[in-house]
Amino acid sequence: MKTIGVLKEVSDDKRVCLLPEAVEKLIKMGLEVIVEENAASGLGIGDEAYTSAGATCSTAENVFDNSDLICSIGHRYDGDELPEPIAFLGIFNPLYFTGDIAIYGQHASAYSLDLLPRTTIAQSMDVLSSMASLSGYKAVMLASNYFISSFPMFTTAAGTLKPAKVLVLGAGVAGLQAIATAKRLGAAVEAFDVRSSAGEEVRSLGARFIEVDGAMESTNAGGYAIEQTTDFKEKQQALINKHAIDADIIICTANIPGRQAPILLRSNTIDQMKPGSVIVDLASEQGGNCELTKDGRSILQNGITILGFTHLSKTVPMAASKLLSNNYLNFIKSFVNDPESDLVKSTLVIKNGEIVHPKLIEMHSTI
Ligand code: NAI
Repeated sequence: MKTIGVLKEVSDDKRVCLLPEAVEKLIKMGLEVIVEENAASGLGIGDEAYTSAGATCSTAENVFDNSDLICSIGHRYDGDELPEPIAFLGIFNPLYFTGDIAIYGQHASAYSLDLLPRTTIAQSMDVLSSMASLSGYKAVMLASNYFISSFPMFTTAAGTLKPAKVLVLGAGVAGLQAIATAKRLGAAVEAFDVRSSAGEEVRSLGARFIEVDGAMESTNAGGYAIEQTTDFKEKQQALINKHAIDADIIICTANIPGRQAPILLRSNTIDQMKPGSVIVDLASEQGGNCELTKDGRSILQNGITILGFTHLSKTVPMAASKLLSNNYLNFIKSFVNDPESDLVKSTLVIKNGEIVHPKLIEMHSTI
């Protein structure tokens, strides 16, 4: 591999997957880098920063024509069948958007960073953790903007205001960051997860862990949650209902890779919540944890604001780009060092147009 291409993200996404500092490091490794014009203009970083780092800036067409590995965050190719072998690197969520990968055609290979194992060795490349941390933080900030009261307890001469009650559903990376942020703002926080190991992490942040007996876990799930039994779901529903109607703010983050997100907030629960409450649903892209969520939209239901935004890291594009840029740089270093390593191969979705990822092969064989 000789040339790395960097694309500008589409529409409202100001993030960029490789900042000039990272590009400079790639060039020092002996690679060439071609960056799409204005790739980081949304961050106030002009093309001259990339050219000073040693890259060339050009049109998207030239990036496609001259790169061996094309880097972007979202998937981005809507041209004709690719005439020559090209590899794409991005965050494609292929286990959920299973149909999208076909568009790359028979000469394309695609590596998707969201497929990296959640292991210590892959931590420096873990784009999911990077983006989930920022989204968890931003979900609480967003909720505070819509919430009609205050987060911390206020003791004033005019009376006392109680702290806001925040309920976090799903205590993975985003959920834990939401808990930490809400605690820092002075809220009383409760959290729920199906993984029992999450309990210790929730309590260590000073929040209360809500437990439902009988959750199923699997050592083969790579640390992720698995689908639960109907009996468990019913018990869980009753308990969540009890805590949700008492909450002022609910942050939803529960997900299962490649599956529809579990519905944890039914409309009859939402009907019983206090007007002025806010639900931020970070699981909206995979259907949402709240039955009424509309992905990419904010809606008002009986005085309850429901915000369905998975990619809140887009609202802090500089912070997101700094983390992503380091993640991408570390992955590319590993790729250049050994393209056949288990770590690199764990992200390989398609090779020369053929689906090669075992989970995707399994999913396609059962469609
Ligand atoms: P995720 O985004 O797939 O899901 C978020 C959370 O939702 C998870 O904690 C999951 O258990 C929970 N969840 C799923 N179904 C649920 C349900 N029905 N009810 C309630 N909660 C439900 O997960 P994320 O945040 O990407 O983390 C996945 C795992 O990876 C976690 O165990 C995390 O600690 C681990 N991890 C390990 C790293 C490492 O380097 N060793 C780095 C980052 C994460």
